[in-house]
Amino acid sequence: MGQPTHALTQTDWWRTAVIYQVYVRSFADGDGDGTGDLAGVRARLPYLAELGVDALWFTPWYLSPLKDGGYDVADYRAIDPAFGTLAEAEKLIAEARSYGIRTIVDIVPNHVSDQHPWFRAALNGGPEHELFHFRPGRGAHGELPPNDWRSQFGGPAWTRLPDGDWYLHLFAPEQPDLNWSHPAVRQEHEDILRFWFERSVAGVRIDSAALLVKDSRLPDFVEGRDPHPYVDRDELHDIYRSWRRIADEYDGIFVGEVWLPDTERFARYLRPDELHTAFNFSFLSCPWDADRLRTSIDETLAEHAPVGAPATWVLCNHDVTRTVTRYGREDTAFDFATKAFGTPTDLALGTRRARAAALLSLALPGAVYVYQGEELGLPEADIPRESIEDPMHFRSGGTDPGRDGCRVPLPWVADAPHAGFGGDPWLPQPADWPSYAADRQAQDPASMLTLYRHAIRIRPVFGDSPLTWLPAPDGVLAFTRADGVMCLVNLADTPADLPPHTELLLGSGPLDDQGRLPKDTAVWLRS
Ligand code: NOJ
Repeated sequence: MGQPTHALTQTDWWRTAVIYQVYVRSFADGDGDGTGDLAGVRARLPYLAELGVDALWFTPWYLSPLKDGGYDVADYRAIDPAFGTLAEAEKLIAEARSYGIRTIVDIVPNHVSDQHPWFRAALNGGPEHELFHFRPGRGAHGELPPNDWRSQFGGPAWTRLPDGDWYLHLFAPEQPDLNWSHPAVRQEHEDILRFWFERSVAGVRIDSAALLVKDSRLPDFVEGRDPHPYVDRDELHDIYRSWRRIADEYDGIFVGEVWLPDTERFARYLRPDELHTAFNFSFLSCPWDADRLRTSIDETLAEHAPVGAPATWVLCNHDVTRTVTRYGREDTAFDFATKAFGTPTDLALGTRRARAAALLSLALPGAVYVYQGEELGLPEADIPRESIEDPMHFRSGGTDPGRDGCRVPLPWVADAPHAGFGGDPWLPQPADWPSYAADRQAQDPASMLTLYRHAIRIRPVFGDSPLTWLPAPDGVLAFTRADGVMCLVNLADTPADLPPHTELLLGSGPLDDQGRLPKDTAVWLRS
């Protein structure tokens, strides 16, 4: 069993934490029904402790029809019976804590499930109508949507009801958007935050954090017009200031899902009285290119510095192409718009780069997110079309493969049925899944799992010190942290000489026979 890497009394644990993302449905299946559950997570806590992570972020585990993997919540205070019970969640939070691991829950404030009692009551003519965005349509008979907004999953952001009115959903039709100018919506979410903080969660991830507030006139979208009718509206900051006051009562922290290209606007969410952290999607989307990565790192650090917030470093999550696959393609950037079936992939190359990227991200100042299976080097799976569940696939008209390829149930035991996941998995596992199984990798000194375990164990040598770039040849990233530990990543075609050092702490792959750093390899050195 691993030792906690941070003292539990440390209130700023989140500034340097390694946070592991658990997609419950696909993590581990405790009751053998093919769906991951809380019993599965509890049974694997020793594994997570051995990995050395400081916290777990659970994607939504609430009661849900699962039309969008749980981001369609029917009751924010109940666990979906497929996953367990509230009592079991409380046990899990406490047990994780006994391993030194904190819990972060995922709150989805922009929308609810169409099965949420508020929406059902609204459809039945109740006053809850005001809590959503219902509008008559345009056109002679109201047959056209009230405006031209598009759903993030494709198609119009409006669905028409039998009574003729339309309702707004920035995601799937089963996810009606809430009306955040109504005080009851604010009150309810503040109560939900308290509900989970009272249950000893250490933090909250905020889904679609920049989308909640809409221009109440619901105007058409006009390219370049400021402010945007529903992205990053100034009114949001007041909401997050009141959330922060609640979090502070409990020493809780926030991590916002804020996809914004404008770094100055992004940093506003991280002012000292707002969110503690936000996901770094610039780094996640960045191609495997030394100059681009260095720019992304510099911009990240520069945008966080004035507000005093720590950066986060994220290589993948449950919405994007898995890292080893992305880095094994000709286009190594991530972009929803370019996802396609059948993209050629060199997995050996992608894996080598993903190993180097792991050492890069774990050496940078700030918090690091690891998405379940990333530590096993799982590739993006090709899901047969008939098994795909993700609405992103269907609303693209079937051209986008969707996000299920990164959500396949994990392989735990190479020689067990379903690679030790539990029952027959809700998404099919590829035939080679057992070769990635955690039990096999745990025995293999050269495996991705062993690399992650070592890296997370050694990582505290970097402390909380700032980053200083070192002179390096073109295509090589080299930096030091104030306490004399260096990280070098070679993205150039030629091997790179190592600077003078006293100890090689860890490498993502072997040095060449002349002791040089080969292409697509990273090392940590003590000077
Ligand atoms: C972002 C989540 O990460 C994604 O999985 C979900 O589909 C959307 N928000 C809508 O909630």
